[in-house]
Amino acid sequence: MKLRRSFAAALACLFILSSAPVWADVVAVIGTGRMGSALGLRFAETGHTVIYGSRNPMSEKAAAVVTKTGNGARVDTSANAIAEADIVALALLWRATEDLIKANVSNLDNKIIFDVTNAPIRAVQADRENAVDSSAGELIQGWAPNSKVVKAFNTVGYHILENPAHAGGPVTVPLVGNDLAAMERVAELVQAMGFETMILGGIEQAHVLEGMASLYFVPYAQGRYDEAFEYYFRKGTAPSGINSSRVRGADTE
Ligand SMILES: NC(=O)c1ccc[n+]([C@@H]2O[C@H](COP(=O)([O-])OP(=O)(O)OC[C@H]3O[C@@H](n4cnc5c(N)ncnc54)[C@H](OP(=O)(O)O)[C@@H]3O)[C@@H](O)[C@H]2O)c1
Repeated sequence: MKLRRSFAAALACLFILSSAPVWADVVAVIGTGRMGSALGLRFAETGHTVIYGSRNPMSEKAAAVVTKTGNGARVDTSANAIAEADIVALALLWRATEDLIKANVSNLDNKIIFDVTNAPIRAVQADRENAVDSSAGELIQGWAPNSKVVKAFNTVGYHILENPAHAGGPVTVPLVGNDLAAMERVAELVQAMGFETMILGGIEQAHVLEGMASLYFVPYAQGRYDEAFEYYFRKGTAPSGINSSRVRGADTE
């Protein structure tokens, strides 16, 4: 009898473990705009505690985002949200990012910065006043040197983040960053939201991903909404006949 009861208890434990997320973090999502609200929704749906960081935590807009997110989400100042969080997701406009990071740098130490921001890259958008030569990802890592910046989702529209099925097939999210364990953790978070992931390399690769986002933005900036294009990375199989020696030799042939 005793044995049967402990077997039942073990089964119940297993059930609880398999239905709950394997890990649960407190995630500060900075910004309550399109990307921030989509990101907060997906973090909350996948079992994490979401605290939005906003310039106006008492605003109707912030309250509406919290209501839509549900699952115990709340909103606070960005400083309070960052202080409480295990992971900080940056979903604010580029022009506000430097001040935000520098004002909260000590509370970012050792934390993963989940960076979806895009800086205008000078090589692509030279006319933009705040265009940068490197990338948002690299600059953020420099402003918060003890944090672990992982660039994710910057090439994925907020509507796809909300519902990956709209892409009509699997979407692979490229990840770049300097800390492998942080990238593996972000990969788990992103996969739980219904995406595939591909770890590509160091944060110095962020400018390539941000350049892609700049191109995505062109039809929007020109008001050509009917012609806006979508593109996704999608893992596939390399064509037959490709092997590592041919790939390495490609630029010398
Ligand atoms: N939209 C997309 O599909 C998409 C896709 C990939 C990456 N991204 C990147 O995600 C970031 C956010 O884009 P978004 O489309 O979500 O922008 P958005 O809808 O305009 O929202 C940006 C949010 O940033 C916060 N913010 C903080 N300081 C600000 C300031 N000085 N001026 C204006 N807003 C400020 C605001 O939240 P509070 O009012 O609560 O402070 C605002 O709602 C950008 O870096 C963008 O490149 C966007």
